Amino acid sequence: MERMNDTPLPEHFTQQAEMLANRVKKRFKHLYKRFARQQIDVFRLYDWDIPEIRAVVDWYGGHLVVGEYMRRQSTPAWLPLMGRAVADAMEVPAERLHLKQRWAGRQDGKRYERIDYTDKKIVLRERDLRFLVNPYDYVDTGLFADHRDTRQMVREMAAGKDVLNLYCYTASFSCYAAKGGARSTVSVDRSKSTIAWAGENFKLNGIDPESNRLVHAHTFDFLAKARRKGRQFDLAVVDPPSYSTTKVRNAAFDILVDHPRLLSMVVELLRPQATLFFSTNHQDFIPRMETLPVTRVEEITEQTIPEDYRNKRKTIHRCWRITV
Ligand SMILES: C[S@@+](CC[C@H](N)C(=O)[O-])C[C@H]1O[C@@H](n2cnc3c(N)ncnc32)[C@H](O)[C@@H]1O
Repeated sequence: MERMNDTPLPEHFTQQAEMLANRVKKRFKHLYKRFARQQIDVFRLYDWDIPEIRAVVDWYGGHLVVGEYMRRQSTPAWLPLMGRAVADAMEVPAERLHLKQRWAGRQDGKRYERIDYTDKKIVLRERDLRFLVNPYDYVDTGLFADHRDTRQMVREMAAGKDVLNLYCYTASFSCYAAKGGARSTVSVDRSKSTIAWAGENFKLNGIDPESNRLVHAHTFDFLAKARRKGRQFDLAVVDPPSYSTTKVRNAAFDILVDHPRLLSMVVELLRPQATLFFSTNHQDFIPRMETLPVTRVEEITEQTIPEDYRNKRKTIHRCWRITV
């Protein structure tokens, strides 16, 4: 029986650690070459495939990020044990192993809390682009790899277009759009630090800051102002959090309630035939898009979820393509 801090751990924990480590090693063998060929450094190795092993394991170019889907009965020793087993199997040193507790639902707010203060970022590749990633300080690392194929779709449509990226985070969608020849991009986020991070990503990829603007603003404030100014776009990406609880500005957002209002405000800024990509991670999302003044609404989740994220228990995201 494994011991941690002199407390004996249940036998089944040790068995789970072994199972997880074997699976991750096998999966790495299966995926590594094909992702390396495409210069993709970030991909998922384990996606809660075994019901009782409530974990995700992500490869970040030689770093391992191991997350546990937390619940009330979670035991503190479980995640470190899983992490150590996986790191040993993959021969990854302890300083490159990052453990994250993932809370679901309304506790989503915890996702954005800091867990360390290193401010260290590493440069990782996704195709011919590069992104600054911080696996140390937050649960989210700066790059959501589940949307790498959606980013590619945006790039393929971006040539000559004015692109709007709302809730842009580190602006990886905007980097793809700019590389795809967008005439302009506007990226909006309410977090000052992620806007600064987005700027670093632009610099890293040689993206012109004049035609690719970063706006530090609340989405609805930005939308109201853009409407007043008569701003128009041809392509939009809207990927909001499920909940956003800013009491300060009375701007609480719940995607279930607020997505029709959000999407209709975005559609007002779009030119005829424009495309809007809308995505959510909400597990019980119910779309209400029938009244949008658009010509087509298609759910394209099947096309946007990459093969390393095909978990049946938990859909990493859902995505729609809306044509004005
Ligand atoms: C799920 S992430 C978006 C991921 C991003 N689309 C990407 O592909 O990397 C959510 C982002 O929304 C931002 N956010 C939350 N509430 C906001 C609001 N009211 N207005 C603008 N940004 C907001 C957060 O700061 C965070 O960066």
